[in-house]
Amino acid sequence: MQLVAPLNGTLRRLPVGAVYLAGLLPLAWIVWLVIGGDIGVDPVKEIEHRLGKDALWFLVGGLAITPARRIWGLNLIRYRRAIGLLAFFYLVLHLMAWVVLDMTLLWQQAANDLIKRPYLLLGISAFLMLLPLALTSNNWSVRRLGRNWRRVHWLVYPAVFLGVVHYLLQMKVVSAEGWTWLAVIVVLLALRIPKKR
Ligand code: HEM
Repeated sequence: MQLVAPLNGTLRRLPVGAVYLAGLLPLAWIVWLVIGGDIGVDPVKEIEHRLGKDALWFLVGGLAITPARRIWGLNLIRYRRAIGLLAFFYLVLHLMAWVVLDMTLLWQQAANDLIKRPYLLLGISAFLMLLPLALTSNNWSVRRLGRNWRRVHWLVYPAVFLGVVHYLLQMKVVSAEGWTWLAVIVVLLALRIPKKR
């Protein structure tokens, strides 16, 4: 992998702040489409879907960092926290799009929707699993929690899996894209299973 060494050299010079800024581009794109009136015939659904997909990209990106280092020697560890927090940020926006734009803050309607579309509960479970990870992603929590920090952060694996199942179940017929996402997640999760000595 001759390209990896110069790439790692370039990445070392890239400030983490640049990753946060770049991570806001998908949101800027959605805002741009809304302002231009190009968000489609059902803007609420389109915004909801785009935010869900963006969250998924960042979640998968975060999961891919360790295997990418192991397999190709690509060192993106410095950006893992930023990518994880961006994933959570898009997830919060995805959830807000449902609560505010779709359900228009009508809680009874939201409760009925959860009964009508139980796959939403999988999404909410995934969100609740990721919440403690986002809250403990700061240096103070890492120091305070010590070994338990790793235990808490292990929740990312079931959370991402539930997130993808939620994505697949909201389709009437699972598309090739949906199966591809599932396959990618299963491979990434399998790579994290500790090898027996
Ligand atoms: C890790 C957690 C989650 C992930 C990865 C995720 C991802 C996704 C994706 C990728 C889509 C479809 C996008 C598309 O088809 O282009 C979607 C749809 C949706 N998600 Fe999530 N989501 C998560 C959590 C949630 C939560 C907490 C809620 C709130 C209840 C939620 C509500 C919805 C809704 C309402 C839809 C649209 C369903 C429809 O059109 O019938 N999601 N989600």
